[in-house]
Amino acid sequence: MNVLVTGGAGYIGSHTCLELLQSGYGVIVVDNLCNSSPKSLDRVRELTGKEITFYEGDVRDEALLKKIFAENEIGCVIHFAGLKAVGESVAKPWEYYDNNLNSTLVLTKVMKQVGMKNIIFSSSATVYTADNEMPLQETSRTGNCTNPYGWTKYMSEQIFQGFAKAEPDWSIVLLRYFNPIGAHESGRIGEDPRGIPNNLMPYITQVAIGRREQLSVFGDDYDTPDGTGVRDYIHVVDLARGHVAAVKYATSHKGCEVFNLGTGTGYSVLDMVHAFIDVNRVPVPYVITDRRPGDIGTCYADPAKSEKLLGWKAEHNLRDMCRDSWNWQSKNPMGYGE
Ligand code: NAD
Ligand code: UFG
Repeated sequence: MNVLVTGGAGYIGSHTCLELLQSGYGVIVVDNLCNSSPKSLDRVRELTGKEITFYEGDVRDEALLKKIFAENEIGCVIHFAGLKAVGESVAKPWEYYDNNLNSTLVLTKVMKQVGMKNIIFSSSATVYTADNEMPLQETSRTGNCTNPYGWTKYMSEQIFQGFAKAEPDWSIVLLRYFNPIGAHESGRIGEDPRGIPNNLMPYITQVAIGRREQLSVFGDDYDTPDGTGVRDYIHVVDLARGHVAAVKYATSHKGCEVFNLGTGTGYSVLDMVHAFIDVNRVPVPYVITDRRPGDIGTCYADPAKSEKLLGWKAEHNLRDMCRDSWNWQSKNPMGYGE
């Protein structure tokens, strides 16, 4: 069976293409490369020895999507394509609503026209409100987002829930990711953020490689064991395998189902820094600074539903994540750019 992967050249998309190919699926990618390099797909081809059909273009381009569905037999769609930088979404809300919502609307419109009914969507733990008890369950409260990016994920979920009511024979899987880090063990594909990294692990690896002077730890006065923010970091290969499990689920169930993809364990910023230094034996200078506006103290998943219904659970530990993040960064100091 072939899977259409939108945004497949990106960080999570490229790892998912690899896992899909290794599980015997055919892969078709559509990506406009606005935040990625086509080298990621070349390297997935090289690692798997398998072909990927690639269309360079925008998911909002209806004619292109019709052409893709006409030229390929597709059994399931994974929709990763979207803009994801929280801070940028505050500065450029229109771009975020346009890209993240219209890509979903155009894609599902064409799917309806061609009779393709199985879709997996990249949602985020950001849809949960800040006042929930931990761990977060799929039934925990959602909404009250603090930025346009978060609203696009929340609104996309609402759009899909509405489709599922109107089209009961569709299968829609909404995956709420926690904090993906790490890279494929080969060190050939990984996360390659443009400009200054927003997220913790790419910032740590860029400090360790000498591209940045020091890490700023955003606040040490949260109500957590060491005062720094606690998150549920998940290895990107585990996350990618969660998508393979979701494809199996989507092609054998109907309706709309939401799943957390996390490990169930929270680590603090200082846990991450110290584990990274210990595993990789490289220095990571850091300073404690003020809190970052909009951050919450603690966020981690209850992954029990995913284990029960998808038959999936994360297998990599903190040391694996630190090792593989550094393996990618040290082998590719400038990401795909060198
Ligand atoms: P990424 O930026 O590496 O990948 C997204 C890909 O989509 C890129 O290759 C980009 O070029 C492409 N793209 C964007 N808009 C497009 C459009 N209109 N048409 C075609 N291609 C387009 O990001 P990622 O980390 O791999 O994230 C993938 C998805 O998962 C996103 O939807 C993101 O919001 C979501 N997500 C990511 C995280 C995270 O921390 N990385 C957490 C939760 C959810
Ligand atoms: N942090 C630092 N210094 C940095 C970067 C981050 O101390 O330079 C801290 C943050 O304050 C937070 C933790 O590291 O405590 C993790 O921060 P990230 O930016 O890596 O991740 P977030 O949990 O803030 O955000 C991520 C994604 C969002 C998504 C959110 C919830 O980036 O897209 O998870 O799923 F919305």
